[in-house]
Amino acid sequence: MCGIVGVLGAHEAAPLLVEALKRLEYRGYDSAGIATINNERLGRRRAVGKLVELSDLLVHDPLAGRAGIGHTRWATHGAATTLNAHPHKAGPVAVVHNGIIENYRELRAEITKAGLSWDSETDTETVALLCQIYLDQGMAPVEAAKATVARLEGAFALAFLFDGEPDLIVAARRGSPLAIGHGEGEMYLGSDAIALGPLTDRVTYLEDGDLAVLHRAGVEIFDTAGGRVQRPVKSVQIDQTRIDKGGYRHFMAKEIAEQPAVIRATLDAYLNTAGDTIALPKPLDLTGINRITMVACGTAYYACMTAKYWIETLARIPVEVDIASEFRYREPPLPAGTLALFVSQSGETADTLAALRYCQSQNLPIVSLTNVAESSIARNSHVALPIHAGPEIGVASTKAFTCQLTALAVIALHAALERGQITPAELARHLKQLAALPGLINQALSLTDRIAKISRQLAEAQDILFLGRGAMFPMALEAALKMKEISYIHAEGYASGELKHGPIALVERTVPVVVFAPYDGLFGKTVSNMEEVIARHGQVVLLSDSAGAEEAGDNAAHVLTLPEADAIFAPILYAVPAQLLAYHTAVARGTDVDQPRNLAKSVTVE
Ligand code: M6R
Repeated sequence: MCGIVGVLGAHEAAPLLVEALKRLEYRGYDSAGIATINNERLGRRRAVGKLVELSDLLVHDPLAGRAGIGHTRWATHGAATTLNAHPHKAGPVAVVHNGIIENYRELRAEITKAGLSWDSETDTETVALLCQIYLDQGMAPVEAAKATVARLEGAFALAFLFDGEPDLIVAARRGSPLAIGHGEGEMYLGSDAIALGPLTDRVTYLEDGDLAVLHRAGVEIFDTAGGRVQRPVKSVQIDQTRIDKGGYRHFMAKEIAEQPAVIRATLDAYLNTAGDTIALPKPLDLTGINRITMVACGTAYYACMTAKYWIETLARIPVEVDIASEFRYREPPLPAGTLALFVSQSGETADTLAALRYCQSQNLPIVSLTNVAESSIARNSHVALPIHAGPEIGVASTKAFTCQLTALAVIALHAALERGQITPAELARHLKQLAALPGLINQALSLTDRIAKISRQLAEAQDILFLGRGAMFPMALEAALKMKEISYIHAEGYASGELKHGPIALVERTVPVVVFAPYDGLFGKTVSNMEEVIARHGQVVLLSDSAGAEEAGDNAAHVLTLPEADAIFAPILYAVPAQLLAYHTAVARGTDVDQPRNLAKSVTVE
């Protein structure tokens, strides 16, 4: 959470900092601020709310200077106020921070003893104050920053800017990502390479524990042991057209609409040219394993839950799926022969990364699926597989989810083939079904107007239930998550068979119940549960295909008829109307779709 940026430029820094922060706003948008050095002196502007508030402030109260740091905040310690906004300044140093300083309370005692006090409720100000103490003791800025970082516990990415040092930024990372950008006589830094897109395409990713000293002429990097190290400069192509709204009202709408193309890209990367055999981006041997443990958070967790059905059914490998924040502290026994599989759009989710580190300590083979090839999770995996969704900016995950599902479907088939559970001919048949999905999703997207109309009714509800059976159960959970995170309507997903065990007590005339029921082997069972809802005056929205709609559509308040899809991989198709229902309900309620309240896209604190 939180995005940090830095510029040592040849031109005014403030507009560059604001532009870079705009591209990091998905990490948090409670407040924003920048500090620059002008005439050797630090100046600072901060504003509560989204970046636009800071931009407005800078129009009325500009900040000159060619060196600067900036921050967009997702509040952890202290409310979203101007005083708590970054950069935090203590005497001659300003600091921006992403992460949490866990020992800030202990450090405060030392700071009080030194006669200093703070203005904010944040953990970050402690960093600035500690650095001031070292500067007051006579340390040079770089040494003071190094000494400060050495005292910190927790996960962080930090940048320091100093009075009288217009050609210096010190940056450090432990746990939180940080990228250094190389320009012509200019240097930049950002929480990710996307932030630096308009400035440079040459990027160095800092390793965990690195500290970087930036001057306009270049960067020196020191590792955890303090030794000077070289980190590669990579060429990063950021497709500018993919990180604007492209004519859509919201990023989420654009990202939903992109799904046929990005799923096709995932399949292209995972299959041979003819599309009838699997050619994974990296070799993955699943013959010797006897169990898979999948770990993730949020939407990625629901992708794992769906994959459990596929891997167990197709490849006959037992799969356990865990929420990362629970897994990491449970210290589960992981017998030999277990493969650990992590799924994360950002590849930086703190709990998922901590769970990965636990599996590393147990010497398990680690496989990950991420959307960011250079992320911490990808870089710490034995086999890191990309999902090819392209940058996902909307906080609500949409195209990353369906690309995760697509990649997981191929992995399930790969395991099934390797273990002799399916023949090459059966594989080719399954792959053909997967290849049909982009076209089917295009058809589903044509339901948008109808979905928008139904959503205007859903927008009136206080509670919405989502039901599904088999692999449609995780879909119900994902649909409920999507609905609540952007529309703020209370929503719950249930396995249809669980309805009678409690949730049916919630059903009444005012409660819409969205039922995922393709015409498959479980259809009859799910429809019986739907009838139980209708008998109690629940307002059912049935999502099915034409056979299902014909057989069971009469009593539902609304029926959305999707194209017929393969029974196994249908969740990939049904995800799309689920996303559209959430999207249009949120639009009808006038919420902030791309940046819903209290959320951030990348959860880099636990
Ligand atoms: O980057 P990750 O996939 O690890 O993120 C996991 C969750 O934070 C994420 O899926 C979250 O639940 C989304 N906002 C859901 O739309």
